Amino acid sequence: MTSLLSELSATAGAAFAAEGFLPELGQIQLSDRPDLAQFQCNGALAAAKQAKGNPRQIAERIRARLTESALFEEITIAGPGFINLRLKDAILESRLQTLAARPDSALPASGRGKAAVLDFGGPNIAKPMHVGHLRSAIIGDCLQRLFRANGWNISSDVHLGDWGLQMGQLISELAIRFPGLPYFAPGDHSPYPVESPVTMDDLERLYPEAAAACKNDPARLEAARCATVELQAGRPGYRALWQHFVEASAEGLRREYDSLGICFDEWRGESDADPLIPGIIEDLKDRGLAVIDQGALIVDVSEPSDTVEVPPLILMKSDGAVNYATTDIATIVQRVRDHDPDLILYVVDQRQHLHFQQVFRATRKAGLAGHAVLEHVGYGTVNGKDGKPFKTRAGGVMKLYDLISMATDEARKRLAEAGLATEYPPEEQARIAGAVGIAAIKFADLSNNRVSNYIFDLERFTKFEGKTGPYLQYAAVRIKSVLRKAGDERQKSALPVIRSEEERALALQLLSMPEALESAETRRAPNLICDYVFRLAQNFSRFYTEHHILSEADVDLKGGRLGLCELTLSEIERLLMLLGIEVPERM
Ligand code: ARG
Repeated sequence: MTSLLSELSATAGAAFAAEGFLPELGQIQLSDRPDLAQFQCNGALAAAKQAKGNPRQIAERIRARLTESALFEEITIAGPGFINLRLKDAILESRLQTLAARPDSALPASGRGKAAVLDFGGPNIAKPMHVGHLRSAIIGDCLQRLFRANGWNISSDVHLGDWGLQMGQLISELAIRFPGLPYFAPGDHSPYPVESPVTMDDLERLYPEAAAACKNDPARLEAARCATVELQAGRPGYRALWQHFVEASAEGLRREYDSLGICFDEWRGESDADPLIPGIIEDLKDRGLAVIDQGALIVDVSEPSDTVEVPPLILMKSDGAVNYATTDIATIVQRVRDHDPDLILYVVDQRQHLHFQQVFRATRKAGLAGHAVLEHVGYGTVNGKDGKPFKTRAGGVMKLYDLISMATDEARKRLAEAGLATEYPPEEQARIAGAVGIAAIKFADLSNNRVSNYIFDLERFTKFEGKTGPYLQYAAVRIKSVLRKAGDERQKSALPVIRSEEERALALQLLSMPEALESAETRRAPNLICDYVFRLAQNFSRFYTEHHILSEADVDLKGGRLGLCELTLSEIERLLMLLGIEVPERM
């Protein structure tokens, strides 16, 4: 089904064409002044400019044409030549009927036939996930849900950080602490033990210590560098030890993503593309794209139009170790080979913008990206109430795990204050509190413009009033409860009836979902979904306050209103699902 707005635009476009103007001038949008009109068309002004005519007269001619279409209740001309439009209620009703019969018709299908790889999450082996990684996970997951809903063929990859200096730091730290382990003896002693010598907890404790040691002692840093080079070169004991690190870490990471309801199609890491690196380096050298500079192998990625300097990309350091940038280039080659995507999106901290600029330029320059568009989808930082990056009370990095349990506690408190879910069995209460806590965190994150920084304020995020995740969950639960109470009287086939202003406003909102989803996709902007679902809930709330539903005596009206409830619920649930937010059965 074409969306309501595109159908109206096509009708107006035909009217413009019939008057000898470009059909694009018939673009129709929701009115900026809902008190005056439902829709507006500003094309007469542009037409007048082009034809050097009088805009009001042109608007009159368009109005005369539109009057013939039988869609409009009222067409008026305002100011210098704005055309204001109001649809017939019957048109809204029939549109809603189609929507009820085929809910998927509200999806824009903008991605049909297109494939994309989504790179998000990006946690690092042995380092705990922090709020920065949380943003990547939440935004990336929302985009994967949205793109899929819009028809894209998506492959998501967590892209573990498993190949850099931190691996060498850990190996050399263990070599100092447990020199007797078989991994450190020269030569190949495989098979190495199956059991890991360290747990995830050990790693989380060891890594900060190793990193601090390297910072304070150049000899330790040198040892870590050597271990990194040897690991990458394939030293068997180091590879075996590294495998343990990856497995121990990945298990914990999977648990954390699970608790957030976030799934990836692929659990690959930087190391997966490593086998491709020697070939890529040879090729770039042969073609003169990579050159030696002060011992390192670099690619010049500057462009004549640069206003700020873009430094060269370092493909291989003088010690032979490869970089974050090198594995990113090789991963593009791998993705192009495996998925042949039209688009690769990287949902990564905005502060890595230069890194991606260098990687994308080098990859394009070398013609390695196939037909894929490469795009960095950056985001801002999460700050504490002091405006500085969010930390624990003790000043440490806030771990994701702790953050989720804080949110659940806060949610439990709020539910109790609001008298919600208090009488349910304890397991159900716990489940609801968990879902509310996660909804609070996710919605707060997604509703901000992605590149802005925001302040982490659990107290505000968990409120049941205002623009929050819990408010929207509650809005959906309330509709569920109305429908449950309606029970048998709820006629599935009940046609939505549009009689009042509140019903009209709700109907118009319900019918503009395709546009909201499409612009959220084009702008990679989850906040547009948040805005839309919040407006929808507000419109519903006005309708609900102003009308009797269960106590309505007129059966048709009652059925029609229940029909509106069902449609609204199904849209809210779908939109919250796109945000990764679960709706409990009751609260
Ligand atoms: N591991 C990186 C970090 O923690 C993020 C990885 C993002 N993805 C990528 N292909 N570079 O900063």
